[in-house]
Amino acid sequence: MKQINIGIVGMGTVGTGIAKIMVQNKDIISARIGAELVLKKAADLDIERDRGIDFGPDLLTTDPFLVTDDPDIAIVAEMVGGTGIAKEVIERAIENGKHVVTANKALLAEHGNALFEKAENKGVALAYEASVGGCMPIIKTIRETLVSNRIEAVTGILNGTCNYILTRITNEGITFAEALKDAQSKGFAEADPTLDVGGFDTAHKLAIISALAYGMKINLDEIYIEGISNITPMDIEFAKDCGYRIKLLAIGKFDGNAVEARIHPTMVPFSNQLANVSGSMNAVSLTADGVGNMVLSGRGAGMMPTATAVLSDVADIARNILAGGGIRVPLRSYQAANIREVPIRPIDDIKTHYYFRFTVFDRPGVLSKIAGILGNHGISIKSVHQTERKLDGGVPLFMLTHRANEADVQSSLKEISALEVSTQNPVLIRIEEDES
Ligand code: HSE
Repeated sequence: MKQINIGIVGMGTVGTGIAKIMVQNKDIISARIGAELVLKKAADLDIERDRGIDFGPDLLTTDPFLVTDDPDIAIVAEMVGGTGIAKEVIERAIENGKHVVTANKALLAEHGNALFEKAENKGVALAYEASVGGCMPIIKTIRETLVSNRIEAVTGILNGTCNYILTRITNEGITFAEALKDAQSKGFAEADPTLDVGGFDTAHKLAIISALAYGMKINLDEIYIEGISNITPMDIEFAKDCGYRIKLLAIGKFDGNAVEARIHPTMVPFSNQLANVSGSMNAVSLTADGVGNMVLSGRGAGMMPTATAVLSDVADIARNILAGGGIRVPLRSYQAANIREVPIRPIDDIKTHYYFRFTVFDRPGVLSKIAGILGNHGISIKSVHQTERKLDGGVPLFMLTHRANEADVQSSLKEISALEVSTQNPVLIRIEEDES
């Protein structure tokens, strides 16, 4: 049987997972691909640690370039992460004519345009299923299943840490800090958890999938990003009473001219499948002509789910090699010549429904002043609720609005804050109503 040699750079959690699956499921992998995948070399700074696998002599090295430069290796898996040495590893492997598989969403979001061009010019694969949603096949679905459809919206829960934190607060009322600590101990938080809770990891993933879905260059800089650290149990509780769950959503919508690309905590109605995705699970809802709405869900992080996605890319490349080489499916879904700059709509221009929580003095005229300002800006109130519960010297006043324009909302909140009827800054959460 033909052998296809693989090299791995970065033998941390995911790198080790790839090696484990290659050993444990060697028989079915060969039976399905028609060739044997062989781990030829693996690099890591630490080659002494027991990873529970017998690598034999000379397989492990501390020099990543012994992997990228090995003439017998056809496919290099970059599992280092980050935007430092990982970039050099990928560039060198491509220059050496090797196919590359990566899970590195930060690197692709920041340098993907140049890296993809480099791989396309060299005629090698740069595959990245594991960069978004772990084992959930979002890249394959956009690139292959929906090849004949116009995609209109990609909306997803793409960060397991945030979803885990919001779920624990929702279900058990534990604090944000306790939930984050727990997510870190379970191993799905990033080394720097501000990437998770600040929404940046989700933005990296949205930058990648919106580019793929809409045939545009990756544009991380224009994505609106708001994380979950200001979400309080009170907002979660009120949302629940009104029939919503709060999720950190990545929203990428295309109207044929411009893309809306935004990450923020979002109130999602119970009837939306994304509202029921809990714990560290990821999910993406795709809307396209011809198919309407489809939802994918799965484990977005962790050793085996991520390694599974890497091996799915490795298998695609191995099958191309066995079929005589060439890149059958364009790396970025569209032929390189058809990839264009598509403007991202500024957040001020979006229109959606809103939730506000004001903390106000409980005295005559306050509500009418707030409602007056909203009315002057054309914002129509859908419902109002005030409780007697004391909060920071005031009482909470909750409001839901009909569809409104973000710029009008921001101007209104500024004017309301200047009224000096509040004891805290207003809280705003955008609502994603079911369009149906
Ligand atoms: N920190 C990420 C998460 C890992 O929590 O989803 C996968 O990208």
